[in-house]
Amino acid sequence: MPRVFSGIQPSGVPTLGNYLGAIRNWVPMQNGDESLFCVVDLHAITVWQDPRELARQTREMAAALIACGIDPKRCILFCQSHVRAHAELAWIFNCVARIGWLNRMTQFKDKAGKDREAASAGLYVYPNLMAADIHAYHATQVPVGDDQKQHLELANDIGEKFNHDYGVEFFPHIDPLIQGVAARVMSLRDGTKKMSKSDPSDQSRINLTDDADAIALKIRRAKTDAEPLPEMVTALEARPEARNLVGILAAVTGAAPDAVLRDHAGKGFGAFKEVLSEALVAHLSPIAAEMRRLLADPGAVDAALAEGAHKAAAIAEPIVTRAKEIVGF
Ligand code: ADP
Ligand code: NA
Repeated sequence: MPRVFSGIQPSGVPTLGNYLGAIRNWVPMQNGDESLFCVVDLHAITVWQDPRELARQTREMAAALIACGIDPKRCILFCQSHVRAHAELAWIFNCVARIGWLNRMTQFKDKAGKDREAASAGLYVYPNLMAADIHAYHATQVPVGDDQKQHLELANDIGEKFNHDYGVEFFPHIDPLIQGVAARVMSLRDGTKKMSKSDPSDQSRINLTDDADAIALKIRRAKTDAEPLPEMVTALEARPEARNLVGILAAVTGAAPDAVLRDHAGKGFGAFKEVLSEALVAHLSPIAAEMRRLLADPGAVDAALAEGAHKAAAIAEPIVTRAKEIVGF
């Protein structure tokens, strides 16, 4: 059975994008010690995080994952900084990856913004750490959103270069698992940008903790156009905001986008938005309630993470020890 690894940054409350693009797809992949889901706090500090907030957000993210159906008894759920192997292997990968490869990463350009010189060096080498996260477990299946595709290609380039340079067959090929109509949920304010929990300039995102009123307000305010909805999703090519909302409704109801459109073709967005709000509230409110219940006992969440770290280290340490021997340490 191939080993699964995926991660999420504790850089804010998880969004509908994280849920539909990633977390939801993790739930059916739980298979004991062969599935690892990680709250990646080392990645989060590539941009400034208040220390007390970081600890709280890490616990909140773990609670969110459990509330979404990630069961610490059926997989390994843990926090990245608790397992040393990630940082150790990342250093080796910093020396394997080429600067030219990192220069091509679009996420660095997006996140660093205009003043690239002022971005942290960590933000720049982030993809090397991500490669280490996966390769430290010899994981081969990585369920992620579409935005991570380029980073996974880099992780394979790193694994291949390591194998080639040291004359070994050590790191396996990684298969990205990018699934579904909502593999990239876009911002509700700008259909050309992805919805992200870690973009402070955009508050239009739907958080898993939003209540019914907040969801309804955000959907009502979501940018749309004046055209009626068409009959087929192919007609939405040049209408990213409309296509995004149709994709979200399709994803939460489990219907095909064209089936969603059949009910709304020829009409404007008023009624559509009401249906969408209701579907989102029905889908997300049990998750928010479960998160609140779990966070009422923070010690239990922390204990689950500690146990997960123990199990994760037992897998990663022998692999990273072997990688160090290959390097000559
Ligand atoms: P964010 O950018 O929201 O801080 P992360 O970098 O922590 O998210 O990514 C966690 C997971 O969520 C990754 O698998 C990523 O591909 C997925 N993801 C993030 N944003 C979206 C989105 N807008 N649509 C679909 N998947 C997403
Ligand atoms: Na991201």
